[in-house]
Amino acid sequence: MLKIGSLKLSSPFILAPMAGVSDLPFRMLNRKFGCELAFIEMLNVRSLSYKSKRTSFMLSTEAGDRPLGMQILGKEPRFILRGLEVLKKYKFDILDFNAACPARKVVARQEGAALLREPKRLKELLKVVVKNSSVPVTVKIRSGWDENSVNAREAALYAEEAGISALFIHGRTRAQGYSGKVDYEAIRSVKKALKIPVIASGDIFSAVLAKQMFEETGCDGVAIARGALGNPWIFKEISAFLKNGRVIQRPELNEVVKVMVGHLNACVDYHGTRIGVVVFRKFFAWYTKGFRVVRVFREKACHAKTKEEMLRVIEEFGAAHR
Ligand SMILES: Cc1cc2nc3c(=O)[nH]c(=O)nc-3n(C[C@H](O)[C@H](O)[C@H](O)COP(=O)(O)O)c2cc1C
Repeated sequence: MLKIGSLKLSSPFILAPMAGVSDLPFRMLNRKFGCELAFIEMLNVRSLSYKSKRTSFMLSTEAGDRPLGMQILGKEPRFILRGLEVLKKYKFDILDFNAACPARKVVARQEGAALLREPKRLKELLKVVVKNSSVPVTVKIRSGWDENSVNAREAALYAEEAGISALFIHGRTRAQGYSGKVDYEAIRSVKKALKIPVIASGDIFSAVLAKQMFEETGCDGVAIARGALGNPWIFKEISAFLKNGRVIQRPELNEVVKVMVGHLNACVDYHGTRIGVVVFRKFFAWYTKGFRVVRVFREKACHAKTKEEMLRVIEEFGAAHR
């Protein structure tokens, strides 16, 4: 069991937040496959406080979409407070503060991973969040800004002092982005230093890599991001392997096709046809990863405009691989 403040989770395998990906259909799909805690897409507190249409849409959820994590991004206490005020009318279970986002436009505003360069400021911001949140607060950090400033341990200790309930860490520096080696040592040093649970992130692409993350770092949970793209089966795979060493085979083609159709339908129901089909295009590419001769189908998927056109591409892909 993993305990994050008052939230008790029976599974330590968490669906990490992914901007542009973690919409309601994606979360619900992963939940069907054993994911317990899932995150909504990152919310900028400024957009939240202006109640932008897009932000309100991102916040849509449904009864089965729990336990649910929100993640906020910001650096100005007055906007953080306004954002938290807006969030009051929504039901969710934990609130994560982002100090990990590497995007240039984000760090240029001194937000996201840029806060790792000012760990004391991060602590002060977290204090504001903790004081004004009715649910447990967590923070997401990286191992540091760049290889010359790996300060995850220091930042994590400051964050813990602010009263957070758990810490998420992506074991890469901001400079690494999403490539290069995951720094298990940085995660291990954070885990050793903190009393609160530490949830590790970085290259959990398989059950073996999940096991390695637990063993190398001593972390209390893992957050899966890219490993779940077009692969909701990863939750069952990791769970079975860590429970009793059982290796689950990759799903049969028919199962992949069935899940794709269900996901497409959910995208269209949620976003409407035009956007739903566009959103699904990238998932098509992820679902078909690892199959032979996929380029032609991906190209067709990229041009599909209606649900029927996309269904036809999925059907053709299935037929060509049977
Ligand atoms: C498309 C995409 C969007 C992401 N968006 C966020 C985000 O909004 N907030 C966040 O904390 N991390 C975000 N991440 C980082 C992931 O949560 C995760 O920490 C990182 O990708 C490392 O895990 P992985 O190697 O399993 O992908 C994003 C990653 C990807 C690939």
